[in-house]
Amino acid sequence: SCLSHVIFLVRVFCAYVLLHVNNPKNEAPSNRAYCKMMMVDRGVIWKYTNTFIHEPINTINAVCKDDGIPVGGFNRQSKKTFKITTCTFNILTFSFNGLNGTSKIVLTCLNGLPVRFVRYI
Ligand SMILES: *[C@@H]1O[C@H](CO)[C@@H](O)[C@H](O)[C@H]1NC(C)=O
Repeated sequence: SCLSHVIFLVRVFCAYVLLHVNNPKNEAPSNRAYCKMMMVDRGVIWKYTNTFIHEPINTINAVCKDDGIPVGGFNRQSKKTFKITTCTFNILTFSFNGLNGTSKIVLTCLNGLPVRFVRYI
């Protein structure tokens, strides 16, 4: 039904926001401390790597509209660069390393809303 379709879309959109949006960036003494805090807070310690985007949700959503270009399938690449932090698990130290910077991002869009973070460029 239409309603179950809408509910499905909202659920994947919210899961994506929980996983990838942190704006403004939470304060932490270091990127390592930031990643430890965020990966636990968002419940994603099972992921090997996860990227957090530090921009308003409307700015990110615009990638699925005028501020993005199609790059195949349902994926769209941002025209602008975004502030991001990527947390990656380091097996040697058994903790997350964090790298921050600005990059273009590629998102999967459904019905004009981002539902998956694909990669940064
Ligand atoms: C990366 O993080 C440092 C420390 O918080 C900050 O000063 C710098 O502006 C950040 N770089 C980018 C590109 O966001």
